[in-house]
Amino acid sequence: MSLKNTQATTAQPPFMAFSLLSLLVFCLLLPPSTTANIHKTTHFIPGLTSHPIPSTNAPSTTYFEVTKPIKLPRTKPCSYLLLHHDFGYTYGKPPVLSKYTPPSNCPSQNFATIVLEWKATCKGTQYDRIFGVWLGGVELLRSCTAEPTTAGIDWTVKKDVTRYYSLLMTNQTLAVYLGNIVTSTYTGIYHVNITIHFYPAEVNFNSDNWFRSGADLILPISRNLPLNDGLWFEIENSTDVESKKFKIPQNVYRAVLEVYVSFHGDDEFWYANLPNEYIIANDLTDAPGNGPFREVVVSLDGIVVGAVWPFTVIYTGGINPLLWRPITGIGSFDLPSYDIEITPFLGTILDGKVHEFGFSVTNALDVWYIDANLHVWLDKKNVKTQGQLLRHKSLPAVISSVLNFTDLNGNFLTSASRSISSTGWVKSSHGKITTNSTQSFTYSNFMVMGNDGDLQIVNQIIDFNDSVNTNMRSSSSQSIESFKRFPLYVYSDYVDQGDGTYSDVTNLTLGFNEKRVKADGFGFLVSSLKNLQNAQGVMLVIGSSVVSGVGSTQQAYQYDGSKFCYFRNVTSKNYTILYDKVGNTCSKNISLVRVLGLPNGGLFLLRGPFSE
Ligand SMILES: *[C@@H]1O[C@H](CO)[C@@H](O)[C@H](O)[C@H]1NC(C)=O
Ligand SMILES: *[C@@H]1O[C@H](CO)[C@@H](O)[C@H](O)[C@H]1NC(C)=O
Ligand SMILES: *[C@@H]1O[C@H](CO)[C@@H](O)[C@H](O)[C@H]1NC(C)=O
Ligand SMILES: *[C@@H]1O[C@H](CO)[C@@H](O)[C@H](O)[C@H]1NC(C)=O
Ligand SMILES: *[C@@H]1O[C@H](CO)[C@@H](O)[C@H](O)[C@H]1NC(C)=O
Ligand SMILES: *[C@@H]1O[C@H](CO)[C@@H](O)[C@H](O)[C@H]1NC(C)=O
Ligand SMILES: *[C@@H]1O[C@H](CO)[C@@H](O)[C@H](O)[C@H]1NC(C)=O
Ligand SMILES: *[C@@H]1O[C@H](CO)[C@@H](O)[C@H](O)[C@H]1NC(C)=O
Ligand SMILES: *[C@@H]1O[C@H](CO)[C@@H](O)[C@H](O)[C@H]1NC(C)=O
Ligand SMILES: *[C@@H]1O[C@H](CO)[C@@H](O)[C@H](O)[C@H]1NC(C)=O
Repeated sequence: MSLKNTQATTAQPPFMAFSLLSLLVFCLLLPPSTTANIHKTTHFIPGLTSHPIPSTNAPSTTYFEVTKPIKLPRTKPCSYLLLHHDFGYTYGKPPVLSKYTPPSNCPSQNFATIVLEWKATCKGTQYDRIFGVWLGGVELLRSCTAEPTTAGIDWTVKKDVTRYYSLLMTNQTLAVYLGNIVTSTYTGIYHVNITIHFYPAEVNFNSDNWFRSGADLILPISRNLPLNDGLWFEIENSTDVESKKFKIPQNVYRAVLEVYVSFHGDDEFWYANLPNEYIIANDLTDAPGNGPFREVVVSLDGIVVGAVWPFTVIYTGGINPLLWRPITGIGSFDLPSYDIEITPFLGTILDGKVHEFGFSVTNALDVWYIDANLHVWLDKKNVKTQGQLLRHKSLPAVISSVLNFTDLNGNFLTSASRSISSTGWVKSSHGKITTNSTQSFTYSNFMVMGNDGDLQIVNQIIDFNDSVNTNMRSSSSQSIESFKRFPLYVYSDYVDQGDGTYSDVTNLTLGFNEKRVKADGFGFLVSSLKNLQNAQGVMLVIGSSVVSGVGSTQQAYQYDGSKFCYFRNVTSKNYTILYDKVGNTCSKNISLVRVLGLPNGGLFLLRGPFSE
């Protein structure tokens, strides 16, 4: 949408005023309303849908997110359906529940890999809807639906949930929240099957093995049932802190908080939100503001223990929905979660008492959906462990912005950095182990507004480094490090065509890069992922509906691991795959692994969320 305050005549669904990138998407939160008029204050409108494309005689389309395959053992899985449900008018209703029991008839009870499979079909017109899958309040999957066509679509998401092993071995309640609204215009009903596959291990290993990477216990840090709008917390503004009380067993020797995050409404395109000074100077009352910097801050009993500078997931209706058909945006079908090492703080929460995690979002606008899972490892040989926090350093993010504009034209440079570091020891039957956890972040966002606000360009990079080091007096240190880089470029050129109609030309680059290094005295393991999308689109929009246009997407995915490599180079245009090459060659010589006969390279203490 343009930044000019043009009068719009078309009735809109509720998400109306969003910033730049939001032309089409919402992973939607709100019911459509007919009362709101669109004001042309933003480029990106949550909740664009595309009615007429492709034509009704086109075949059903299978949408997909490019990702590496899940490494499976050569065993026959024990599979069963967990839930079959048609999500029609489910907005604001309680999540759909079903009873979960671990597999009882499986010949083996030692599973190497467990896979959760989401399969859905939909036909008609519908927004992109955010949804979550929880087991016993522990979130297993955060995802966005694909937007249907009149010819019908289907898609499948497979997620390796082996990490939740201990939870999956107990009776639980499965909850799925997908807030959909069906009207005479938005006709799409999501037909969903959720299946789980348990793959027995190839060799029957000792059940108390060191191989298994999952925690012994996973505690939900989410909203309690029953509730009306999902099991995530909702953060509505920059001062909003949502929190959850919890208690851990007294024999924990390691703890990791896994945080799930998604952003919607006025912050769906937070990276394109305008500085308040610009909004005020130009009287753009409906444009989402607070500038383009956001961070999720996590506290434990009021002390900041970590942050998440999130990857810019673009949902399937986002910016230009035609870009995401059938190749969807990176992370949109399986939103990333982020791990924060809590082990240094164990000394403060091993007292058997109630403690509290809190979540807030710097500069937030309505609304962020956040919750977390606390993974804890128990000392099987002790009823109590002990610990102490030795050092903790966390200063607020240093944010600077340089604004240079005259009327609606100008440019803004926003930069930020932060680091959080904590060190503490835990004494267990494994010895007295000191853990040092450090997160460091840098952020830069250069935004250009041109053509009197009709042109918006965003160029953003987030660097997100984590390291966890453990030291035992008697042995050498071990470390796990992750280096993430999230580049984003969006070019959006808006032309008002009058009568509530506009056209838009978009170019976009979106990247998710991560290198992981796991090292100890015996060797190290390295993995690297480079995942990059380039996309170009044009569209004509009436109201919140794309009436014509075309989108093209090129994606290059290269994963190099110590066990396997995978690449895919795929391009699509106008719903059709033009080129698709898949292979297993490594991009570089990554045969760096020296493992001296110990499982997991000997990293028994840091076994855990290192997925290669
Ligand atoms: C779900 O499972 C049912 C029963 O097996 C099947 O008829 C239906 O087609 C499946 N739907 C999807 C979306 O896979
Ligand atoms: C789990 O649920 C099953 C089926 O309802 C039941 O037979 C079993 O006893 C339950 N197990 C536990 C530990 O409650
Ligand atoms: C922020 O959101 C919280 C939670 O909804 C609300 O109580 C509070 O009044 C809001 N603060 C502002 C300044 O809007
Ligand atoms: C401000 O923006 C104008 C127009 O883009 C540019 O010519 C000028 O060099 C900028 N000034 C500064 C200080 O960045
Ligand atoms: C913790 O680790 C970081 C990065 O590895 C290092 O720079 C720092 O000195 C360590 N701090 C302590 C207290 O050991
Ligand atoms: C992250 O690590 C990389 C590689 O060591 C380094 O170049 C970069 O400066 C680090 N960034 C931050 C924010 O610490
Ligand atoms: C947008 O992408 C098209 C096609 O790749 C290219 O020709 C054009 O120069 C790009 N425009 C901008 C402003 O990046
Ligand atoms: C992907 O394939 C296209 C078409 O063959 C090619 O031009 C491009 O260089 C490839 N990209 C990568 C990263 O291999
Ligand atoms: C897209 O494909 C449809 C047929 O599926 C065709 O009618 C239309 O002309 C194509 N659009 C473009 C811009 O290529
Ligand atoms: C990889 O590196 C090793 C050790 O440096 C070398 O022996 C090997 O030939 C290299 N392999 C390839 C494919 O370059």
